[in-house]
Amino acid sequence: MQILQITDLHLYGNAGGSLRGVETDSSLRHVLDDAAAAAFDYSAILVTGDVVQDDPTGYLHFKSLLTGLGKPVLCIPGNHDEPDAMRQSLRDEPFQYCGTRRIDDWQFIMLDSYDPGHVGGRLGAGELQRLDAALTHSAAHALVCLHHHPVAMDSRWLDSIGLANAEDFWRVIDAHAQVRGVVWGHVHQVYEGERDGVRLFGTPSTGAQFQPHSDRYAVDSRPPAYRRFELRPDGSIHSEVRWVDFIGAAGHAAAG
Ligand SMILES: [Fe+2]
Repeated sequence: MQILQITDLHLYGNAGGSLRGVETDSSLRHVLDDAAAAAFDYSAILVTGDVVQDDPTGYLHFKSLLTGLGKPVLCIPGNHDEPDAMRQSLRDEPFQYCGTRRIDDWQFIMLDSYDPGHVGGRLGAGELQRLDAALTHSAAHALVCLHHHPVAMDSRWLDSIGLANAEDFWRVIDAHAQVRGVVWGHVHQVYEGERDGVRLFGTPSTGAQFQPHSDRYAVDSRPPAYRRFELRPDGSIHSEVRWVDFIGAAGHAAAG
């Protein structure tokens, strides 16, 4: 099974809105076009937060861009989202807000790490219980999705706005053997790692990126991107990030 992950879209209600020098509507369209042109036969789209840039009218815009793709769109909130407006906007198929979703041999667990008034994230007691219950009630291979990074990115400013209670998160993950991967957005750069057999994936934005390993906030010059996952029946994962240089021609892949 293949999955398309897009993250940190930062859309506005107005198609001309731009952030950090990138028109976020235009760059998302190029990302979706690239995925279509690559004949990438994905079963669902995973959207790991910051769908809008502090502008709830952006959800209508998001829906108009993704409804016609004919695939389930699994969404979680980021710090720039408005969870109540997002849940309300995305309550109908093909959209799903948080919750869990079983597709083939895999269970997707979509967590809400939004922490009101904070740029960083936190998983409340209810979300941690929901994660534990989802893993207790299904032995399927699990892909756990949240907006904020639950490991250090080796970037001082970003690591001050990650998942504040990552220890609580890992305590639940460590208690269940079937977690195969953890996936996040928020960091606007690539991260790939492994922790006790669990694959870890941070994914660049569909818009502007941040400079890796930077002590201070700094915008990178890398182009928009998305991630492709192949989730196999044996629980193994192949994944790559695809960069979309929409001034030039086709994107290029960076293996992972
Ligand atoms: Fe973001």
